[in-house]
Amino acid sequence: MQQQVTFPSGTVNYIYRTAFADMMKDYDKQHTVIITNEHLARIYDDAFKGYTTLVVPATEGSKDMDTVRTLAAGLLQAEATRRTTIIAVGGGVVTDIAGFVASVYMRGVRFGFVPTTLLGMVDAAIGGKNGVNLGYNKNVLGTINQPAFVLFDTAFLDTLPATEWSNGFAEVIKYACIFDKELFDELGQHDISYYRHNPAALNELIERCARLKTATVVEDEKEAGVRKLLNFGHTAAHAIENLYELPHGKAVAIGMVIACMVSETITGLGADARTRLMALLQRYNLPVKMNIDPRKAMEILRMDKKRHDDKIDYIVLERIGKAAIHALPFTDIENALIAYES
Ligand SMILES: NC(=O)c1ccc[n+]([C@@H]2O[C@H](COP(=O)([O-])OP(=O)(O)OC[C@H]3O[C@@H](n4cnc5c(N)ncnc54)[C@H](O)[C@@H]3O)[C@@H](O)[C@H]2O)c1
Ligand SMILES: [Zn+2]
Repeated sequence: MQQQVTFPSGTVNYIYRTAFADMMKDYDKQHTVIITNEHLARIYDDAFKGYTTLVVPATEGSKDMDTVRTLAAGLLQAEATRRTTIIAVGGGVVTDIAGFVASVYMRGVRFGFVPTTLLGMVDAAIGGKNGVNLGYNKNVLGTINQPAFVLFDTAFLDTLPATEWSNGFAEVIKYACIFDKELFDELGQHDISYYRHNPAALNELIERCARLKTATVVEDEKEAGVRKLLNFGHTAAHAIENLYELPHGKAVAIGMVIACMVSETITGLGADARTRLMALLQRYNLPVKMNIDPRKAMEILRMDKKRHDDKIDYIVLERIGKAAIHALPFTDIENALIAYES
């Protein structure tokens, strides 16, 4: 099944329920370069056979300008031209770097994404943000540029480690909190094992999340308004993710709990919402509690891209399934972190 989605900066073809090998029949070996990471190059070497394949290390730390330079040199060496299509096969790290390289190599070549993590399928491969980190500061250098296609082939998830399933579910739970109460209730009746072993339910879940993110980005690609809602749980997450080297999904889980506490004072969200969210996060093997040093976290938050003056655009919940943007003073965030600690 294919679906064309038109964003302000370009049209993307979403390809669902199609095997990677079938899609690759459309790509000749002369004009295609695959970018992947060292894990996937090993697991899926058969699928990449015959294609020029550039391999990056499998860590968040490799999402930087050194890797961009290495990839660009690799593209030159492979004689990639403006007729080349770059296909990124991997999680968010691979699609973010490859999207960035493809956007700047020879002022931009055609590229497509094949997300291989749940987080990639429901989030990172959608929306056209391509970025790399600069030291501890995440995604400081980047472009907004849509891929030509995104292939959603859930067969890749057969080899995904359990902890990465949990990380992906943090974003799924995020969509439920901000947009979709029905999804929140559905998730409460199942667990990771259910979705892993029920391909129909898994495909539906991924399509539902992809639709929610896509509709938001179509309306506000440059993040002037509604796209900000997708940052629910991400303000605190960005700080603790770097500080404690926590996987993104785990940091988002804790960030969402903190955001519920903040919401309780700002919007009057009932405390039962936080209790229900914590139960749901634990159901998907995500953390809800950790020791945070509020002062250190605030130092990082002061560098956040979303800040303006002494406030930050903070996403609060009015209720489960409905979010709002609130300009929150830094002192309120610090107080929330201190309250979370105690
Ligand atoms: N551009 C965006 O809009 C956006 C949105 C969300 C996240 N991101 C970025 O995405 C990144 C996180 O992405 P991620 O969670 O996919 O992590 P990741 O890319 O680091 O992948 C996680 C791990 O899973 C392994 N892996 C991936 N697919 C596999 C498979 N099919 N089988 C076995 N192992 C597999 C990888 O090798 C890696 O070790 C972060 O850098 C984040 O900033 C970007
Ligand atoms: Zn996220």
